[in-house]
Amino acid sequence: MEERVYTCPYCAMAHNSTEALKSHVIAEHKTEPLPSPEGLIRLAINGQGYELTVEPHWTLYQVIHDKLGLTGSKMFCDRGACGSCTVIMDGRPILSCMTLAIECHGKSIETIEGIAEKKHPLIDAYVKHHCMQCGYCTPGFVVTAKALLDRNPKPTEEEIRQALAGNLCRCGTYPQHVTAVQEAAKKLPNS
Ligand code: FES
Ligand code: FES
Repeated sequence: MEERVYTCPYCAMAHNSTEALKSHVIAEHKTEPLPSPEGLIRLAINGQGYELTVEPHWTLYQVIHDKLGLTGSKMFCDRGACGSCTVIMDGRPILSCMTLAIECHGKSIETIEGIAEKKHPLIDAYVKHHCMQCGYCTPGFVVTAKALLDRNPKPTEEEIRQALAGNLCRCGTYPQHVTAVQEAAKKLPNS
């Protein structure tokens, strides 16, 4: 009988059993093994653990917004073009409309709700500098800016513009965002 091969989805290394593949994923890729075939995933969202069964085609946005009721993330385009659905996953801003929920098993996710709950200085700065008109794009901007300040607490104006370049605002609030992020950076602890 032909020997079955289990291929790592991250680096394509071949293994001869699911146990070997799981051990490899944990050791080499520092992440949880793949979710169960039934679609059971575990997520930590804003520090709270969730366990739920997802369909293979569900996006992370659908799970966060529609299934878990965290409605702060917004959906402008549903095709990875606007940034309004941005959440932070394991420290990196990602587009939740373009990410399959089943790929997020074992991940730690931060949404606008968690950022607001912690009273991050970005929240007051965005209000003070009137960074929103209709406000639909605002959560995506704040989440992207939070990820920037987490990795670079003293960004230059150019770095702020680059970080926010993937977020679109059809109301044209762009100039205020730089001012708000600069002010929030000054109010970070240890700044
Ligand atoms: S709704 Fe996700 S990028 Fe536009
Ligand atoms: S404030 Fe309306 S889309 Fe940005």
